[in-house]
Amino acid sequence: MKTVLTTIVVSTLCLPSLGWAAGTLEAGYLRCEYRVDPMGVDVKRPRLSWIVQSDRRGDRQTAYRVLVASRPELLAKDESDLWDSGKVDSDQTIHVVYDGKPLESRKRCYWKVRVWNRDGKPSPWSDPAMWTTGLFEDDDWAAPWIAGTYKPAPGKEDHLRPATLLRTQFNIPENIERATIYLTGLGLYEARINGKRVGDDLLAPEWTVYAERIQYRAFDVTDLVQTGDNAVGAILSDGWYSGRILGLPGVSRRPFKGQRGFRMRLDVELAGGKTITIGTDPTWKETDEGPWRHCSLYDGDTYDARLEMPGWDRPGFDDSTWGPTREVAYPGTRLVWQPNEPIRATRELKPVELSEPEDGVYRFDLGQNMVGWCRLTIRGCDPGTEVTMYFVEWYNVDGKPVHAYGAKRTDTYICRSADEVVFEPKFTYHGFQYVEVRGLEEKPKLDNLTGVVIHSDAPRAGRFECSNPLINQLMASIYWTQIGNMHSVPTDCPQRGERLGWMGDPQTFSQAAIFNMDMAAFFSKWTQDIMDSQHPEGPFPDISHRVHPKHPRYASPAWADAGVFIPWRIYQNYAGIHLVEKHIDSMRAWIDFLHRNNPDLIWNKPRGRDYSDWVNLSNSRNPDFPRGPAIPKVVFATAFWHQSTTFVSKMYAALGRFEESDKYAELADGIRQAFNERFVSEDGRVGLLQDDGSVKDESQAGYALALRFGLLEGAQRERAVAHLVDNIEDTYGGRLSTGMQTTHRMMIELSRNGHHDLACRLITRRAFPSWGYMLDQGSTTIWECWDTFLEETGVNPRGTIFSFNHFALGSVAEWVYRFLAGFNDDPEHPGWKHFTIAPMPHKTVTWVKADYNSIRGPTRSDWRVENGKITLKVTIPPNTTATVRVPTTDAKSVTESGQPADRAEGITFLRAEKDAIFYGVESGEYTFAATYTPHESHTPHKEDE
Ligand code: BGC
Repeated sequence: MKTVLTTIVVSTLCLPSLGWAAGTLEAGYLRCEYRVDPMGVDVKRPRLSWIVQSDRRGDRQTAYRVLVASRPELLAKDESDLWDSGKVDSDQTIHVVYDGKPLESRKRCYWKVRVWNRDGKPSPWSDPAMWTTGLFEDDDWAAPWIAGTYKPAPGKEDHLRPATLLRTQFNIPENIERATIYLTGLGLYEARINGKRVGDDLLAPEWTVYAERIQYRAFDVTDLVQTGDNAVGAILSDGWYSGRILGLPGVSRRPFKGQRGFRMRLDVELAGGKTITIGTDPTWKETDEGPWRHCSLYDGDTYDARLEMPGWDRPGFDDSTWGPTREVAYPGTRLVWQPNEPIRATRELKPVELSEPEDGVYRFDLGQNMVGWCRLTIRGCDPGTEVTMYFVEWYNVDGKPVHAYGAKRTDTYICRSADEVVFEPKFTYHGFQYVEVRGLEEKPKLDNLTGVVIHSDAPRAGRFECSNPLINQLMASIYWTQIGNMHSVPTDCPQRGERLGWMGDPQTFSQAAIFNMDMAAFFSKWTQDIMDSQHPEGPFPDISHRVHPKHPRYASPAWADAGVFIPWRIYQNYAGIHLVEKHIDSMRAWIDFLHRNNPDLIWNKPRGRDYSDWVNLSNSRNPDFPRGPAIPKVVFATAFWHQSTTFVSKMYAALGRFEESDKYAELADGIRQAFNERFVSEDGRVGLLQDDGSVKDESQAGYALALRFGLLEGAQRERAVAHLVDNIEDTYGGRLSTGMQTTHRMMIELSRNGHHDLACRLITRRAFPSWGYMLDQGSTTIWECWDTFLEETGVNPRGTIFSFNHFALGSVAEWVYRFLAGFNDDPEHPGWKHFTIAPMPHKTVTWVKADYNSIRGPTRSDWRVENGKITLKVTIPPNTTATVRVPTTDAKSVTESGQPADRAEGITFLRAEKDAIFYGVESGEYTFAATYTPHESHTPHKEDE
């Protein structure tokens, strides 16, 4: 399908570059349910979105018309047999709900859009886009689930069973017009037609709460099916469904007793008009004797090439020794389309160094802590030789690999002959920078190994570059950490035996994640996972997915609260009100549960595992670091309860349900008052208030949350800011002591309360504890703890805390985008309909070039301070408006494209503050210049969390 993507170059590394005709407003980058040309959509009235572009300032869409047709030829003639929206006077460019003929399963929908500009002039039609419908009803599969005969031994830990191979053959007598396949499996599957892989997605069907939802995928496989004999094969492994997760007991206790299965429907449309449908059924054959011996997400793949069956996935293969399959059923679950971008291999890394630390142990260094696996060329080995790849994230001060508990992280290839082969695993992934290869007959060459990076392939949304190399290095590391922890769900880490959707981590990182990548589809899917994991009485889990019924973890403050924060982020950034509508009852149930249990409005119980401000520095193992209290857990919890309740109130208001909105606003206000009565002293100190009016256990984290979550007002706010600054400067000698839930929140509060200089000092600090310290130790990703590794003593020996790839402390990217680039959304106008660009230069950062590709189009902030002058170039997408802050006190000095700013087209003077002038700006590109005034105490980002 040729779409607008022919003019928009999209890759995971490049923002769309637009090639629009001059002089008109045009629509492009057409998406259905947040995806470009998705197949198998099971939403009966899907939402359509586009962006508009124009080379004129102040342009906007005044009307649109959408055409949807079942055939491209019709659409090409501007005809529509499914939907013609007619001309709709509206500026809506996102979430336009399909309102045409009721759609049926397995249909193709071709669509395009025309828009009218501010003068009422229509654009040409956009390039066409498409979606196909999926299988709405279970009966539409017209094929049962099938499985092999292998059964796990009852009660036995059995996560290392061989993959099953499944196959069938069929004949297509005529020329083929088109072939479409629908696929799903439990656990992981790879489907093949005539020897070739179907699609490029990995680790399908991905991770859902399988007892509730299993995702399927649809592909156009016209190129794979042929006239004459054909074969379909599938490899079926365990993965999240029936492999080991978190060291918990094995498959027998998982949903459906760990019974693996595969389901397929293949429609081959013939030139003569007929359609032949091939589906899974018990005539398929199966074997467990294939080469994939064990496949485990944590432990790795073991492949025995001696068991290869050449041609097993092609027609003509003799499968007479294979066994029969049988029908299986998974009652109670639903098959749904996969709304999120698939996991794909997005790039390859070549090693930078090869060494031989021990005889026969070849160590490749990829130069980057990455997540995925390796492709290895092997030759000259005797049959039966085991070649292993062992994955290492970091070497400790004693030269030994840092232990990643609970994961063997070894891929094994057992040779069939001395011929050269290339081995690449399938049903696992690892987090690593180094690979130790053992078992080779001869010394490999550097290019015998390639690192293959895999992750959920959400498009890149933001880019940031500035004059300070440390911050650039930090932002690159945060991005690598993000893609290293997006594998169907946001995970805490990629290397050890966890890799779970610990909800506190993405809750704190969510806005940073959204600035870096388009998370609309990924978070929409994960939100459903969260809701599927919710306890019937209201508590959200700490981990989504809830890993195991016998391992319940619920209701921990900040972790469970992700059940409210993530839908809020989707609303705030993507105006995804439909998701708010869908999930509001679940969010309300959570708040009501807390209220029932805590009628005095202090969150005392239940608090689950109460992780609180995890990895804060109250207990640092660095002997030189001051000992100080962590934020009291009840203070932490009550602050989060207040914020979640505030979000629920705001989301009710967005739905127009004002009565409920008022009710939760009132509750939030009650919590705020209770918080102030119990945790805030008269002089604005935050901690546990004592009878004598003093405060115990004051912490940076306490101030960060009280400020960020809007718990303090007026003079109390100012006092709290002063105490926070004293705590950092005096108590901690200019150092932070915060953990994963409060660090970036503290940074934001410093910058928006007149202490940007201190925030800039913290981000550019190189001594412990700091991001600079991590990078200076050679890290290319973000650590789990500030002291994951100490130069003197090595890796943190405490417990299990030694991950080098955890995104939570990278949440500071939100601060970088908000204050250095200056991008700030406006919650009154969700989905970046209106926003602010308010960069805050500092002597450590004298220029920035940043892009954020919002749901309504690309925005840009590109500024430089030089010789006492600031130049600020901004881009505002058509159909949106912005407030731009120019940091100057000299109104007369402000020009735009060389003209006095007050005379420039598209600009309105809004107000002058102590150290800046604010302009209202229409869409378009602008170049401001002015005499530069360093910031004093302005608040460009006014909003609370
Ligand atoms: C994870 C964290 C997670 C935490 C809960 C850890 O093992 O790696 O990132 O949020 O458990 O405290």
